[in-house]
Amino acid sequence: MTDRLIIFDTTLRDGEQSPGASMTREEKLRIARQLERMKVDVIEAGFAASSNGDFEAVKAIAAVVKDSTVCSLARANDRDISRAAEALAGAGRARIHTFIATSELHMEKKLRMTREQVLEQALLSVRFARNLCGDIEFSPEDGYRSDIDFLARVCEAVIREGAGTINIPDTVGYAIPELYGDFIRRLREKVPNSDNAIWSVHCHNDLGMAVANSLAGVKIGGARQIECTINGLGERAGNCSLEEVVMAVRTRRDYFGLDVGIETSQIVPASKLVSQTTGFVVQPNKAVVGANAFAHASGIHQDGVLKARDTYEIMRAEDVGWAANKIVLGKLSGRNAFKQRLQELGIELESEAEINAAFVRFKDLADRKNEIFDEDIVALVMDESVVN
Ligand code: KIV
Ligand code: ZN
Repeated sequence: MTDRLIIFDTTLRDGEQSPGASMTREEKLRIARQLERMKVDVIEAGFAASSNGDFEAVKAIAAVVKDSTVCSLARANDRDISRAAEALAGAGRARIHTFIATSELHMEKKLRMTREQVLEQALLSVRFARNLCGDIEFSPEDGYRSDIDFLARVCEAVIREGAGTINIPDTVGYAIPELYGDFIRRLREKVPNSDNAIWSVHCHNDLGMAVANSLAGVKIGGARQIECTINGLGERAGNCSLEEVVMAVRTRRDYFGLDVGIETSQIVPASKLVSQTTGFVVQPNKAVVGANAFAHASGIHQDGVLKARDTYEIMRAEDVGWAANKIVLGKLSGRNAFKQRLQELGIELESEAEINAAFVRFKDLADRKNEIFDEDIVALVMDESVVN
């Protein structure tokens, strides 16, 4: 098994399924370029058969992106697959991602098909797709809620037909980390030709566990591809968030033992671009990309970080694309943080007594004001010098 983890970004496909997040072709193109800059392995650019607009977007992305594989989603039917192949014709590296539901619930209530019909359609679609493209991914939709023995038969059949990646979606975000990881592990054991494919995880965030489930799919299940989106954008409560999963694997390489090829300094620019494009604001306390992710407000933490950053930082703000970490001055700040800010602002007070007096005024102000800005500090020092 390889120790390389493939990052498959689906911001432009599953992310766009977020109500209100629809993007124009130009917007998608801009995001695709940023994903390429970030060295994402696979960019799912859209669902070519879903509309002319999406077809054109996939085509445009395929024409310009050369370093990442460009992928289009397609239902398991010849028309969708042909349309995906057509849109991807200009790609340096192309992938067709075809899917059909395999859970009893979806097969009976949604598809109105029997198990045998679904199995047949899955394998015929992969066979058809394989004749059009060398890189085929297959997803059994609602895979995690499917009967594992039936699912194993489907996976075995599509691998035999040439699917190189098998992705097991937790379509409705129902999974629990240990159970999902174990499901992937048992499934792989039941598929005799499992080593001929790369196994992938695709988790939704309905119970807030998409990242944890994806990581368990890797660690326990042996998956080597994670499907994710920038800022966790996606249908309903969203998908596994790229920034969190990538930084978890990077920061805890001691535990996962895996390499990811992502240029992490491009993460924050990507997050900002997706947020500005879709209008979906990133919550301030969001891991990695939230405005407070590297901000320190408590005096004890500020003092620690000023002495040694790793006292309260497990990652470097600069490594994910922030200019620096932040010491937020407020009522919890201590003298050390205040002194440091004076220095950064080029304010030299002559004696310790002067610093102490300024610090007292700063604390008074901080009791009345939530956050103290640099302008406030300059003002409170200047006021005093004018009075004196
Ligand atoms: O969540 C899901 O099941 C999907 C598939 C189409 C891969 O997005
Ligand atoms: Zn999905």
